[in-house]
Amino acid sequence: CLQKTDAFLHRSIGTDVVVAQAEATRSDESDEKNGRKSLHTLHVERQEQAERSVLISCQTSTNEKKFLKYLTKHGEINKYFFYESYGVYAVVEFANQESVASLLEGVAIPGGSHESAVPFKSRLLSLRNLGSVDSSNQLSGWQCQPQTTIPINELIKRLSREESINKQISSLTEAYQLTEENSRLRFLVCSLLKDIATAYFPECTIKPFGSSVNGFGKLGCDLDMLLDLDSISGRNVKLPKSGLSLEYQMKRANSERAVTQSILSVIGKCIDQFGPGCVGVQKILNARCPLVRFAHQPSGFQCDLTANNRVAMKSTELLYLYGELDPRVRSLVFTVRCWARAHGVTSSIPGAWITNFSLTVMVLFFLQKRSPPIIPTLDHLRDLAGPADKSVIEGNDCTFVSDFNKIQLQSNTETQEQLLGEFFEFYATFPFSRMSLNIRKGKEQNKPEVAPLHIQNPFETSLNVSKNVNASQLDRFVALCQESAWLLQQSETSTPRGGGVGDEGAPTPWGLATLLLPSQVAGIKSRKKRRREPASERIKGLLESLKNKNQLKKS
Ligand code: GTP
Ligand code: MG
Repeated sequence: CLQKTDAFLHRSIGTDVVVAQAEATRSDESDEKNGRKSLHTLHVERQEQAERSVLISCQTSTNEKKFLKYLTKHGEINKYFFYESYGVYAVVEFANQESVASLLEGVAIPGGSHESAVPFKSRLLSLRNLGSVDSSNQLSGWQCQPQTTIPINELIKRLSREESINKQISSLTEAYQLTEENSRLRFLVCSLLKDIATAYFPECTIKPFGSSVNGFGKLGCDLDMLLDLDSISGRNVKLPKSGLSLEYQMKRANSERAVTQSILSVIGKCIDQFGPGCVGVQKILNARCPLVRFAHQPSGFQCDLTANNRVAMKSTELLYLYGELDPRVRSLVFTVRCWARAHGVTSSIPGAWITNFSLTVMVLFFLQKRSPPIIPTLDHLRDLAGPADKSVIEGNDCTFVSDFNKIQLQSNTETQEQLLGEFFEFYATFPFSRMSLNIRKGKEQNKPEVAPLHIQNPFETSLNVSKNVNASQLDRFVALCQESAWLLQQSETSTPRGGGVGDEGAPTPWGLATLLLPSQVAGIKSRKKRRREPASERIKGLLESLKNKNQLKKS
């Protein structure tokens, strides 16, 4: 989140904000019939579930039956699951919110002779000594839901056993995507933090955004949160000609940024001092996008809390919408993100690397450039928007359609395998030095400013989302695309090895698995350490084949 390069850098000071969104009036019914929910509906549902849920630290010796019997005294349970993160935890969702109140009524606040506890009754609880252990039914023997992805070596083995590249792509997506449980846990953490923030702002909400909800999140990704004060600030409400308005209580600051900073400062302090399980709280208020960063230990999430970040929420909605339009969108994004991480094209450390956000926009742009296009341009989505979709944030038009049924897709039948190969070829030969990627128009355009990689911000169109990327990182990306395109064209890579077993009993990597192995490309990573004669020969061949292909296309 610290890496945001444009919107947050240029966040205007004191500009008027107009958000004319009547989200509640949106019609989601027909989408739900098709199994597609708008992000708004998903948020409402998940938030409501989270409000009825508690997070309980358990002993591994806890007996599950007794655990359930104990909790159902407070009411019916809708869903529960266990997971491990510095101990075993359970997420328990009651059918009614009263059950949570009833449960909290009876909880004891621990006290010690040397320490005193802050008497804050949160929904993060600890359950101890439920009685004797029935060894056949201990939690330790119970299925804990995984909250992290399998290591890359495991993934490579799993993929190598698949029969086709299409299956490998689906298998990768399945292994990496957020699970139902992980998504619930993310909303629950937001809800627990909201309980703290409401001490200051009783009607606020805390919403997840970014990859936690945009459909492209990988298990273990960070939790980006937005402290939403819009329902209180009355941005959508016109000042009445008569009647009451807040005056006497209002404190004013000389910019919106200053207000955001002061709000995050107090909430950050509160999280630090009273937030159960929140550790390593850092207030990063002078960043381009002010934020509070901390680790939420019971969930294992690295959290970034921001406020007044409505454009980021809009980008999240847009990415979500694109991901829902065609299953190939999500699987290609997952595959490319995983490939990029395996080769160090992206990194968890901020720097001159390509970010996951930029990479996702690159995939979307590529899919718009297919013939026929797999996804529509953003301008087209704007043209389909109804009055309730209208959204203008700090003078930027962020309007696009939310009703899936209004979007007609063209019938492109390319397979995931074809698209992956074409993706690498597309960017192996893209004229980055002259052109900018523009998903609003679905066309490349002359670069408006000098930057190695120029990707127009979809909503703040004068900005470049990949402003941070330097020339050498772009070169590595291009070289890796060339290598991967070439690898996919080789029959020994692109055909299954019939379950052949290599060293140490592992299946021989093939197809997508080969693309995730350390790169052989000269000049990429550990330049000095690796012997690279065979690679330079291979890459020479690859460049030749790409050149020839390009010439064929042009002629
Ligand atoms: P992960 O790497 O899985 O965390 O992906 P992410 O999509 O969550 O990225 P990140 O945590 O860096 O940012 C969260 C959200 O902020 C993104 O999904 C975008 O909506 C937005 N965002 C991030 N970086 C940029 C940027 O450079 N420009 C703009 N306009 N928005 C950004
Ligand atoms: Mg994120």
